[in-house]
Formats: sequence, structure tokens, C-alpha cells
Amino acid sequence: LGYFTYDAGFTSTASCKSRVTYIDGDNGVLLYRGYPIEQLAEKSSFLEVSYLLLHGELPNKAELDQFVSSVTNHTMLNESLKDFFDGFHYNAHPMAMLTGVVGSLSAFYHGELDINDPNNRELTAHRVIAKMPTIAAAAYKHLVGEPFVYPRNDLSYSGNLLNMLFSRPTEKYEVNPVAERALDQLLILHADHEQNASTSTVRLAGSTGTNPFAAIAAGCAALWGPAHGGANEAVLNMLNEIGDVSNVPKFIEKAKDKNDPFRLMGFGHRVYKNFDPRATIIRKTCHEVLEELGVGKDPQLELAMELEDIALQDDYFVERKLYPNVDFYSGIIYRALGIPTEFFTVLFALGRTPGWLAQWMEMVNDPEQRIGRPRQLYTGAAKRDYTPVDQRG
Ligand code: CMC
Repeated sequence: LGYFTYDAGFTSTASCKSRVTYIDGDNGVLLYRGYPIEQLAEKSSFLEVSYLLLHGELPNKAELDQFVSSVTNHTMLNESLKDFFDGFHYNAHPMAMLTGVVGSLSAFYHGELDINDPNNRELTAHRVIAKMPTIAAAAYKHLVGEPFVYPRNDLSYSGNLLNMLFSRPTEKYEVNPVAERALDQLLILHADHEQNASTSTVRLAGSTGTNPFAAIAAGCAALWGPAHGGANEAVLNMLNEIGDVSNVPKFIEKAKDKNDPFRLMGFGHRVYKNFDPRATIIRKTCHEVLEELGVGKDPQLELAMELEDIALQDDYFVERKLYPNVDFYSGIIYRALGIPTEFFTVLFALGRTPGWLAQWMEMVNDPEQRIGRPRQLYTGAAKRDYTPVDQRG
């Protein structure tokens, strides 16, 4: 077979040393640079958390102002980059557009792709954090067939995003502060999660020395899958499929049936085996948002609560320690904010961007860093001779 340790899915292999994020899955602990996620979600802002992840310390006032000003000044897209969107099919998935367009940023910044220069690394990080919402909003406007809205630098990061998504030339739009804060909090909760699949992908791609725009595009591609960032979209699709509270028991049985591919989306986590601390925070926000935005009793939230209740009492889920994860609730908040389902994973990508960049920077700075190159246990055919096609049975 070979001489390597077999670890399918890397459940027990540390691929790097990292100082960015700490997770204690058994006790539901998540720390960014040592700070508990609960405190950051309550007291900080997404851009402050981005600075923290990138630089390792919370900024002082002057540092924060400078960082916010720099990110704010990079929100515009080159006009010809904006034109890319005209080339996408009218119903292209926004993750397809985001992945393609973020990768293409490397075509616009040739001069600053030398990653050995720390100034280039910092500038690129600011650019990516700044332009992701503009690209995302352009993808959204393409999807809904409305004109592109330029960034507004007088608004906060999340306020500007909401404005680019929802304002139209025909009517006055004002950013709702409840929506702005809820979105900012969701982005904070998604900002990093140590060596998850997309972050590992960014590191693996980045380990070859490729430029950061390309590495972030690789991260977007990995995030898209339903077992990762695509789960928030899958949760809403699942709730639609279940349709009514009376159908919950039937779907619970389907999830338990090993011959049925159906799984409860938004349940289970590779690392958190008791509870996901992000889900605890977001569950509370979810109720507050629905109340404050005046959405009232949302039938999908009721359905979600029923599903959560039943699953948490069922031996199958209890024995396997399958609890609701962050994606279970985030989708419901996005829905309350008026965001279409296929856009949910894009918001996850925006949130995860500073984490990807912080991990990429850490990797580039690590003297022990080598190209990521896993080995395998070969289980294929033994050596054999080629036979011409007319001699094969
Ligand atoms: N519904 C039903 N059964 C499940 C589920 C589920 N959601 N998740 C795991 N199981 C079962 C699985 O069948 C297995 O059972 P058995 O031991 O009898 O074979 C057992 O629980 C262990 O599952 P696993 O697939 O070995 O666990 P994993 O660590 O490889 O997978 C996971 C973790 C998150 C991919 C998985 O739980 C899952 O597919 N969940 C649904 C998708 C989802 O919500 N993903 C978002 C993850 S959180 C956000 C993020 O980080 O992206």
C-alpha cells in the first residue's frame, strides 16, 4: 500500500501551526487571536475583527481609522472588471460569478503580485476585503436584473453592502440599522474557523506561491459545496422541501436512514461535538431580528425550531452529537433581511475573507512553510502491460 499514515478527510492531521483561531470542539469554544467569539460578536465590528485577524492584535483608534479608511478607499471595481458581469448567463449562480471575478482581480494588479513584499501583501488584503462586497453586490444585481449600484464610502462596511444590494435608482433607500448590525454580526461569526476546507484550500493553493487573488478564488470554490458554506442555502431549500411542521418526523426518519442520501442540513460539525458557539449567538440574534424587523412569526423559523427540538431529543442525533451549526440559523436571518437563498453562500464568503487572508499571510510568513503536497495509499491495479484496442475483450 505505501508507507504513509492514512487519514481520510484529515481528521487527525495538523497541516500547519497557527496563531489565528483556537477551537475547543468539546467545550464549544471559539477564539479569534485569543478573544472569545461571544465578546467580538457583541462588541466589535466586522472591520475591526478583520484587522484583528490580519494583525494579531486589536487596533488602537488611529490604527482602526486608518484601516477602515484604506479598505473604504478600495471599494471601487475597475469599470472593465464590472463589465465582466454582462458575460454571465442571466441566471448564473452568484458563487460562480464571485469565484470567477475575484480570481480575475489578479489580471488588474500585475504590478503588486510579488508576495515577498509585505506592503503588497497588506495592500492586496485591503483590496480583497474592500472589493468582495462590490463584486458580490454586482453578482446580485445581475441575478435580479437591476442596475449596478456603486459603493458608498460614507456608509459602514455592512451598510454599504446593504445599499449596493437593495437600493434602486427609482426609489429612496435607507439602510436599516437592525439589518446592518445583524449582517455585521453574521460576518464576524463567519470571519475565521481555523483549518476548515476552504481555508485549507487557500493555504494549499497559496503554498505554491500563487497570487492571493487566485488563492481566494480557490477558497470560494471550496466554500461553495453543500457540506461547507453551501449548507446555509441547503438549509432553506430543506425547510422548503419539508414544507410543514407535520412533515418533520418523516424527514427526521429520512435523515437517519443510511440508504437515503438525505441529511439534516445545518446539523453536525466536524469539530464541535457538543454545541457550536456561533449557533448559540446567532439563534438569539435570529429571534431579535425577526422581532425588530417586524417580520412577525416566520413559518420557516417555526419549522426550524420544531426540527431542532425533535432532532435534539432523538437518540440518533444525541448519540452522534449532531447539533445545529451556524448555518442552520444564518439562512433564516438572511431570509428576514430579504436576501435570496442562492446568495447566502456569497455572504459566508465575504465573512470568511479576512480569515482566508490572515491564514494566507501567516503561511507566507512561516519559515517552516513548504508546498502542500499530501501523499496517498495507492489501491489501484498492479503494474500491467498495455494491449492494443483490437486485442481487448
Ligand atoms: N444528518 C444526518 N446524519 C448525519 C448528519 C446530518 N446532518 N451529519 C452527520 N450525520 C451522521 C453520519 O451519517 C454518521 O453516521 P454513522 O456514524 O452512523 O455512519 C455520523 O453522523 C458522523 O458523520 P460524519 O459524516 O462522519 O461527520 P463529518 O465530521 O465527516 O461531517 C458534516 C461533518 C458537517 C459535513 C456533516 O455533519 C454534515 O454533512 N452536515 C450537514 C451539512 C452541514 O450542515 N454543513 C455545515 C457545516 S458548519 C459550517 C461550515 O463550517 O461550513
